Amino acid sequence: MKKIAIFGAGGFGKEVMMLIEQINASKLQWQILGFYDDGVEKGTIINEYEVLGNLADLNAVTGDISVAVAIGDSQIRFDIISRLSNPQLSYPVLMHPNVLTGKYVTIEEGAIITANNILTVNIEVGKFVILNLTCTVGHDAILEDFTSFMPSVNISGGVVVREGVYVGTGAQILNNIEIGAWTKVGAGAVVKESLPAHCTAVGVPAINVKYHE
Ligand SMILES: CC(C)(COP(=O)(O)OP(=O)(O)OC[C@H]1O[C@@H](n2cnc3c(N)ncnc32)[C@H](O)[C@@H]1OP(=O)(O)O)[C@@H](O)C(=O)NCCC(=O)NCCS
Repeated sequence: MKKIAIFGAGGFGKEVMMLIEQINASKLQWQILGFYDDGVEKGTIINEYEVLGNLADLNAVTGDISVAVAIGDSQIRFDIISRLSNPQLSYPVLMHPNVLTGKYVTIEEGAIITANNILTVNIEVGKFVILNLTCTVGHDAILEDFTSFMPSVNISGGVVVREGVYVGTGAQILNNIEIGAWTKVGAGAVVKESLPAHCTAVGVPAINVKYHE
C-alpha cells in the first residue's frame, strides 16, 4: 500500500479523507497517514486521524509520500502547492469509484474528483483541479490547472475554463464559452457569455461585478 497524507484539515479535507476511504473500500491501495495543516495544532485528532504537522513538517518528511491537497479555494491551493518543495512528495489523481468517464478523458496529477461526477468525452482535466460532488462536464471541455468546481456545477460542451477559476455551487456554464484565468463565478450563476480573467461574476445571467488580482 502507498502512504498518503491530506494537506488541509478543514471540511473539504475531511471529505477527501472519506473519498480515500471509499477508494480503499473498492480496491485497497492507500495507507492513510493523517492530516497536515498550517492552522490546526499538531496532535489534534480529526475523525480518527491525527494532524501530523504543518507545511514545513511536510517539507521535511523523509520517504515517498503521496499528498492530497484538499483546499477548495483555487488561489490558496495554488499558494500551498507552490510552497511544497519536498521532492519525495507526489500528487496522485484521486477519483471516486462511481465517477463516470469516457475513455477520451485525460486527468493530470493532483486532481480530486469526488462522488457522482460525470465527465463524458474528449475532456482535459488539468493539474490540481477539484470537481466537488455531482458536477457534470460535457464533451470537449478543458479545465485548466487549479480550477475548482463546487457541488452540482454543470459545464457544457466546448467550454474552456482557464487556470485557477473558481465556480460556486450549482452554477451553470453554457456551451462553447471561455472563462478567463482566476475568475470567480458565484453560486447559482448562469454563465451564458465568455468572462474575462480576474473578475467576479454573479447572478442569472452572470454579470462581472468586480475585478480582483
Ligand atoms: C462569488 C463569490 C466567490 C464572491 O465572493 P467575494 O469575492 O467575497 O464577493 P462579494 O461577497 O464582495 O460579492 C460581490 C457582490 O456579488 C454579490 N454576490 C456574491 N455572491 C453572489 C451569488 N452567488 N449570487 C448573487 N450575488 C452574489 C454580493 O452580494 C455583492 O453584491 P454587492 O456588491 O451589491 O453587495 C461568492 O459570493 C460565492 O458565490 N461563492 C461560492 C461559495 C460556494 O459555492 N461554496 C461551496 C462550498 S462547498
